[in-house]
Amino acid sequence: MKKLVVLALAATAALAHAQGFPGSKPVTFVVPFAAGGPTDRVARDLGEAMRKAMGGQANFVVENVNGAGGTIGVARVAKASPDGHTLLVHHIGMAAAPALYRKLSYKVQDDFEFLGMINEVPMTLIGKPQLPANTYRDFENYIRANAGKLNIAHAGLGSASHLCGLLWQSRLGAADAMVTIPFGGTAPAMNALVGGQVDVMCDQTTNTTGQIEAGRVKAFAVTTAKPLSNHKLLKDYPTLQEMGMRGFDLTIWHGMYAPKGTPAPVLAQLNEALKKALKDPEFIKKQEGLGAIVVTDKRVEPANHKAFVAAETAKLKPVIEAAGKFAD
Ligand code: MLT
Repeated sequence: MKKLVVLALAATAALAHAQGFPGSKPVTFVVPFAAGGPTDRVARDLGEAMRKAMGGQANFVVENVNGAGGTIGVARVAKASPDGHTLLVHHIGMAAAPALYRKLSYKVQDDFEFLGMINEVPMTLIGKPQLPANTYRDFENYIRANAGKLNIAHAGLGSASHLCGLLWQSRLGAADAMVTIPFGGTAPAMNALVGGQVDVMCDQTTNTTGQIEAGRVKAFAVTTAKPLSNHKLLKDYPTLQEMGMRGFDLTIWHGMYAPKGTPAPVLAQLNEALKKALKDPEFIKKQEGLGAIVVTDKRVEPANHKAFVAAETAKLKPVIEAAGKFAD
């Protein structure tokens, strides 16, 4: 059986090659947020692993196309030439945007080929270093005592940081919502937080772990259902469920997408390279060091990821609608 699979893959790669893929042109990962953020980090690390997985035949470059919570970058890929040279690396926003925006210039399920899921990333609730709180309880009491006077940074409507802030605030039931401050990504938002220009943010551990460790921001809680007991730093922070927000469970995931109509042999070759890259020890080590978990199971299968994204939108829609009063 294994021999048959190997032969089929060789035939697919030959077909893709026959289509001139990858050829000499680099493969561009469009990242719909500013450089230096968690999505950018995943794309750059994955690009190196995919380059190795394809035997150095293709170079992977990242193009940051930020704005509007990532929807501008997503729209760019929806309209890109379906030749395998323009791909999208995105996260839960692929499922959240259709539940948040009344009008989008793309249809997730119709305008993309799904290449597979990449990883899962917990989020952390963090504050500026000057915030007069050291435990989650102090933090929540401070927020309540200063209702309407504090702000929360995010990367635009539909971003992971916006979604987390929306869900957390709706569970907090804060009478006056915090003022929300959008940025082109959580990299610039993190600079503002470290500099004390904004007060609070909820962001992915791939972006916050280093800042927490360096004492440049204060961490108060993690957003996962279970504590991150395997992580040397993050194990010390409670979950929001432990802090009384029953059922609060938010884990960000990343996936890879191509424009609809990308030839099947090219998609098969990219999916094969993705599966190999996700087993790359160096990529796994980098991701796990930042609290992320690389996916190596059936969720990397295109059809499964397509169904998963649709299910995530259906799951998020009522939750976002219930919390909607905190939307921008
Ligand atoms: C980023 O990469 O900047 C973040 O993923 C933005 C966000 O979704 O919060």
